[in-house]
Amino acid sequence: MSDAGPVTRLVPQPAATVPLRGLYLEHDLRRLAEAAGRPYVVANFVTSLDGRIAVARTDGTGLTVPSNIANDRDWRLFQELAVQADLIISSGRYLRDYAAGRAQEILRVYDDPQFKDLRIWRADRGLPAQPALAIISGSLDFPIPAVLADGDRDVVIFTTEESDPARICELERQTGRVIIAGAQQVTGRGLVDAIASLGYRTVYSAAGPQVLHMLLADQVLDRLYLTQVGRLLGGASFSSIVEGGLLERPVDMRLHSLTYDAAGVGQLFMCYERLT
Ligand SMILES: NC(=O)c1ccc[n+]([C@@H]2O[C@H](COP(=O)([O-])OP(=O)(O)OC[C@H]3O[C@@H](n4cnc5c(N)ncnc54)[C@H](OP(=O)(O)O)[C@@H]3O)[C@@H](O)[C@H]2O)c1
Repeated sequence: MSDAGPVTRLVPQPAATVPLRGLYLEHDLRRLAEAAGRPYVVANFVTSLDGRIAVARTDGTGLTVPSNIANDRDWRLFQELAVQADLIISSGRYLRDYAAGRAQEILRVYDDPQFKDLRIWRADRGLPAQPALAIISGSLDFPIPAVLADGDRDVVIFTTEESDPARICELERQTGRVIIAGAQQVTGRGLVDAIASLGYRTVYSAAGPQVLHMLLADQVLDRLYLTQVGRLLGGASFSSIVEGGLLERPVDMRLHSLTYDAAGVGQLFMCYERLT
């Protein structure tokens, strides 16, 4: 499935046939962040029709995005969102998987020729080559990859008051910055306030269901991007988009845009915006 070829925008009306390429660049997250005057936080997931975002690996090494729903057209849109970011949120789990060779670089516009236009998009705006990377972790149990320790990319680790001070010092030596943003858990409010004080505005969460719960619990998520692939997977061991306790306050979101992609089995690209 290549990322060439059009999609059908259903919302906002009137419906229209539009190119897939550029669909989410047009959302102009940087303008929204500027208008908000504070960190503007978006998250993105690809899910099966029965709500699976991750299923068990066959070798028993945890969960992974189901390969039968991951696809090039969704990946293109993932990159279009990532390229707009000042800061990408990821997790301790991501760095553990990265170290074990099970995860790839999040923003692929520098090493995948199909995203050359996105690399140019970022350069044209005078942005740093890579967005900064935020790692959320309570355990701090991960190695810092050489590409982060030796590179010029900003890395900020967000952790809790319960973290081992010696480990914090070690990570500070390697990456520069570790910020306490919660007592037993990093909180959405603590995270966003710290992000604001560091001067980042457009924030993209590429992390999973626990981080989404953290952002929802403090009502700091502005937009939720969901790709729903028309395929059911079943299975007993899986993740959905949110994991954690019942939210004290439900989060109300209004459909901002809906696009149908008929390629392959078909998928819906949805964007929801939090009602304030
Ligand atoms: N289909 C999709 O679109 C999609 C998107 C994202 C992720 N996924 C998949 O979902 C699975 C889980 O992803 P993930 O591990 O990145 O997601 P996650 O469940 O959001 O994050 C898990 C890790 O982040 C840290 N963490 C999360 N919330 C925290 C908090 N409030 N305070 C302190 N630490 C916190 C913890 O790290 P420590 O253990 O280091 O303390 C925890 O183990 C993976 O298989 C991933 O591939 C799928």
